[in-house]
This record gives sequence, C-alpha cells and structure tokens, in this order.
Amino acid sequence: MLNERNIAIIGAGTMGEAAIAGLLRAELVEAAQLVAATPRAERRRELSQRWGIKTTGDNREAATWGDVVVLAIKPQMVDHVLPNLQGVFQPSDLMISILAGVTIGKLKEMTGHAAIARAMPNTPAQIAEGITVWTTSQGLDAERRSWAKTVLSAIGQQVEVEDEKFMDMATALSGTGPAYVFMVMEALIDAGVHMGFPRRIAAQLVEQTVIGAVRYAIQSGHHVAELRNMVTSPGGTTAAALYELERGRLRTVLADGVWAAYRRARELGES
Ligand SMILES: NC(=O)c1ccc[n+]([C@@H]2O[C@H](COP(=O)([O-])OP(=O)(O)OC[C@H]3O[C@@H](n4cnc5c(N)ncnc54)[C@H](OP(=O)(O)O)[C@@H]3O)[C@@H](O)[C@H]2O)c1
Repeated sequence: MLNERNIAIIGAGTMGEAAIAGLLRAELVEAAQLVAATPRAERRRELSQRWGIKTTGDNREAATWGDVVVLAIKPQMVDHVLPNLQGVFQPSDLMISILAGVTIGKLKEMTGHAAIARAMPNTPAQIAEGITVWTTSQGLDAERRSWAKTVLSAIGQQVEVEDEKFMDMATALSGTGPAYVFMVMEALIDAGVHMGFPRRIAAQLVEQTVIGAVRYAIQSGHHVAELRNMVTSPGGTTAAALYELERGRLRTVLADGVWAAYRRARELGES
C-alpha cells in the first residue's frame, strides 16, 4: 500500500522514532522511503546509524520530499513549526498529525494543507503494542485513508472514528491509559512488598498477573464481570478484597480520573 510512497517524519523523538521502527520492522516500507527531520545533528546521526534512513534538519525539505508527512513534534512547537510548512504540500499528499489537542481545523489553517489524518497514539507504540485512535479531514479519499491506516498500524492496533469529538475522549482513555495501569501495578507491587515479598518477586507476580488477565479476558470472550464472578467464591479471599475495593470507590475513582483527563484535554485543545 505504501509502495513507492515517501514518508517524512517531522520531529523524530520518542513517538517519531516509534513510527520509524514500526514501519521498518513490519517491512511496510524500505529505509530509502523514509526521512526524519529533527534539529539536532547528534540525533540525526543516531537515527541514520540505527535505521539507515535519510535525515535532515530542514522540515520544509522533508515535507516536500514526503508523500505522507507525519507530524510528531511537541504541541508547544506548533506555532513555530507549522507556519513554516506553508506551500510545501502537494494536494495529493497526506499529513498525519499525532499532536495532542491540535485540531484538524488548526492544522489546516496553519499549514494550508487539507488532507489530514489526526491520531492519538499511546506509549506502548514504542514496542508496536500501542492503540491509536484516528480520524480524518472531511472527504479524505480511500487511498489516503489506507496510507494512514498502514502507517498507524506500524505502532500497534488502530481504530478509525468518524467524529473528531472522540479524539479528546481517546486522549483520556487510551492516550493517558498506560499511566493508570502503571499506577495500579505500582500499588499492587507495593502491597506485595508490604506483605513481605522481595520487590523483584512482587513485580514479577504483578506483571504476569496483568498480562495473563488481559490475554485471558480477550481470548475467553467472556465479559470481564463474568470472569471476576468466576474467581469470587462465596465467603472467599476475592470477595473480601472486592468489598474493600468497592468501599474505597475504585471504580468511581478511575472514572473520575478519566473524566478529569477528558476535561483537561478539552481545555488544552481550546487554549
Ligand atoms: N508520548 C506519548 O505518550 C504520546 C501519546 C500521544 C501523542 N503524543 C504526541 O506525540 C508528539 C511527540 O511526542 P514525543 O513524546 O515523541 O516528544 P519528543 O520525544 O520530545 O519528540 C519531539 C521531537 O521533536 C524534535 N524537535 C524539536 N524542535 C523541532 C523542530 N523545530 N522541528 C522538528 N523537530 C523538532 C525534538 O528534538 P530535540 O530532542 O532535539 O528537542 C524531538 O526529537 C507530541 O505532540 C505528543 O502530543 C505523545
């Protein structure tokens, strides 16, 4: 699908490099089809040595060369970087933005380019285990939609949504989601240590419990509430633990956290 298409990554930091790694490892493109634009010469050397790709310090040069231009700079750099890309896009090019909170309208206004996919990935993208929610500018043709889908599938699963309003929700649920999981894992590991396990063993138990529970939930096809009921024997240990978790408002605390992230994503988008 990306045969003979050139891909430019503007801002080759953590997420930009995740895209480069995913595209090359999955053999979706050849190294010769990629260019990374980033200001530091040392970082450019590192990327070209590690991945065998072209690099440049000139964003305009990269965007001109790319048929697909991935914007992976920090949102704070938008005012500085995007106006400088005015006039470099061909009408047939596709811009993919992973900038948190920057709307399709704003991207179009600042760059002058109308064919846009806006995406919200998450950090497991770095090991191609992310989940990316994405949407496009109105009327984007099937071919460029398929380019977006292919590029985003290089960093994990992807889900296309019809309406841009889902992007702030995705930011709160899956974009921020790894942090919720890490915090829960940290709390469980600390509880293991509190009981007397060495930290290394507590960490191993929690990590594999999380991986196993998630894989089991997906593969069993049961609703997660059914799976929970299946391990809750009358008068048993799970029932005792669940009572305390409910009393401590675990579910509503998590929901409140997600809502707080959603409200903040909307505020940041508006500012
Ligand atoms: N990390 C996440 O979990 C996550 C999740 C969803 C979305 N995102 C989005 O992904 C984007 C990138 O995040 P990140 O974590 O990958 O950030 P990052 O590691 O800081 O990467 C940004 C890169 O842009 C480079 N840069 C700085 N000025 C530039 C310029 N004028 N032109 C081109 N490149 C320039 C930086 O170079 P230097 O290192 O030399 O400064 C750095 O390599 C953000 O917009 C963020 O909202 C991130």
